Amino acid sequence: MLKPDAVENGHIGAILDKITSAGFKIIAMKYTQLSKRDAEAFYAIHKDRPFFGDLVSFMTRGPIVSAILEKDNAVEDFRALIGATNPAEAAEGTIRKLFAKDIGENAVHGSDSDENAAIEGAFHFAGRDVY
Ligand code: RTP
Ligand code: MG
Repeated sequence: MLKPDAVENGHIGAILDKITSAGFKIIAMKYTQLSKRDAEAFYAIHKDRPFFGDLVSFMTRGPIVSAILEKDNAVEDFRALIGATNPAEAAEGTIRKLFAKDIGENAVHGSDSDENAAIEGAFHFAGRDVY
């Protein structure tokens, strides 16, 4: 997902360019907005964390871009491309270093395992919308 801050700040095109230039193929994509219920379900793993309320408010405050990306070693390579959760700790040239403000508003989401990537892909897209 390109998160609401990335969309608000006009970074959709620049971030997608970084992603495709790094060798990821976009096999599904849409412009959408999460409901509170959607965001709570998507980030359910964090429901007991102190930042959960802020995370849900942030993720629902405006539209996002969601996509399914395909590449060899995609999960690990995408997390390297986006950088650390906290942009202050993200490596130079990473998407979060370039486009994110802080640990809460950090521009992009990446799946953390192949298993979660499959679950999250199915959360956003019907099979017929994946090419
Ligand atoms: P994501 O799931 O969004 O790709 O981020 P991540 O794996 O790098 O980080 P994760 O630990 O899964 O946290 C999910 C999102 O919650 C927000 N967050 N805020 N205020 C805070 O301390 C805090 N910690 C995490 C961020 O938006 C983070 O990406
Ligand atoms: Mg995560």
